[in-house]
Amino acid sequence: MKRQDGFPDGFIWGCSTSSYQIEGAAAEGGKGPSIWDTFAHTPGKVAEGHSGDRACDSYHRWNDDISLLKELNAGAYRFSVSWPRIQPEGRGVPNQAGLDYYSRLLDALAEAGIEPWLELFHWDLPQALEEAGGWRSRDTALRFQEYAAIMYGHIGDRVRHWTSMNEPWCAAFLGHLTGEHAPGMRDRVAATRAAHHLLLAHGLAARAYRQSGLAGEYGLVINPSKPRPATLRPEDLAASERASIERTSLWLDPVFGRGYPQGFVERFGGDLPVEAGDMDIIAAPLDFIGVNYYNEEAVRAAAQGPDNPYGFEPVPTYQKKTEMGWEIEPQGLRRILEYIAENWPCRVLFVTENGAAFPDVPGPDGIIRDYDRIEYLEGHIAACREAISHGVPLKGYFVWSLLDNFEWSYGYTKKFGLAGVDPSDRKRRPKLSFYYYRDRIAGFCP
Ligand code: FCB
Repeated sequence: MKRQDGFPDGFIWGCSTSSYQIEGAAAEGGKGPSIWDTFAHTPGKVAEGHSGDRACDSYHRWNDDISLLKELNAGAYRFSVSWPRIQPEGRGVPNQAGLDYYSRLLDALAEAGIEPWLELFHWDLPQALEEAGGWRSRDTALRFQEYAAIMYGHIGDRVRHWTSMNEPWCAAFLGHLTGEHAPGMRDRVAATRAAHHLLLAHGLAARAYRQSGLAGEYGLVINPSKPRPATLRPEDLAASERASIERTSLWLDPVFGRGYPQGFVERFGGDLPVEAGDMDIIAAPLDFIGVNYYNEEAVRAAAQGPDNPYGFEPVPTYQKKTEMGWEIEPQGLRRILEYIAENWPCRVLFVTENGAAFPDVPGPDGIIRDYDRIEYLEGHIAACREAISHGVPLKGYFVWSLLDNFEWSYGYTKKFGLAGVDPSDRKRRPKLSFYYYRDRIAGFCP
């Protein structure tokens, strides 16, 4: 029967997770430490001293995750590979136990009829590479190419959808400018250098994929944003423009062969370590762009300084907020998808992450009736449908996240899952939103 909800047949419905946030087994199976292991074990960096040491224990319980995906009838599962599980020191021969782990996961997904969406980097850089300069160093981009080629060679025939990395803005800016994320630096020059080397790493890996002769689809996942100006004062308009450049054009312009955006070059161009040929590598052809969307901010101008390295700041808005304090604005998702589709020649877009944290208090029967999350998802899925009807080439949607997991500097205090994970026994417990999404996937929802 044809779907009744206006989504085209063939639209991909999936869920997303990432290695450090779910795997646990931080020092098992020959895995080396990543910058997130180090950061999480540095006092004061992560809420309540939490770490990904055990996380959801997906390294051992991956089968439970697949059972959930099967029950949802999800078409796709987006997960990331832990680079230090494959190369404990970030270079050299691959660690067989690491390859075996992902190989088993891929076999089980194939058996379940779920498309793997494999992401090579979701922020857990091998610590050994950090010590050699991390993303500030050009060599890290070359090491990334080597790691990517290992993955293409070992499992390339079993994965049709690849992404190089997740949200390079976060890795560069939260990691090196505000220090909220690993490696925890606060240095504008370091952040700018990291941004270029992340893009270079992406380009080198994308080019290596094409050269490998594999015939899958290759993309990049970003968290674009086009914040509204708080007022129509010229300085607030300029602030919103600057914010939009750092979150969106800084990534999409180079990837689509336009070089770095003028507004960024004027301010920080001197710190971009561009060498001859880099911009061509970064512009390696792509099949799709993944968009992660959670909220849309309004910003105003603010004096740049140690406490405000951006030179703009969000203003309070009237919308309801999630537990993250992020405003709920489904139309912002439609707006950002349309903005990208109108301004860059993307053949295909996917929403690779969308979801929300809520308090998730269980009822007396233990069931989590997360109506807030259902309303959030429903609103954003409707916004996707509108974007499609306005001509956006959107081909799929992934919920963040399948499971409650390690939410970076918030540890386990913020829950995004369709299923909870019991801290005592790591059992997965579907919330009401899990069943909502199952019915949405089946096309039963309005
Ligand atoms: C995104 C990250 C993802 C998760 C969500 C809430 O920025 O890609 O890992 O933490 O936010």
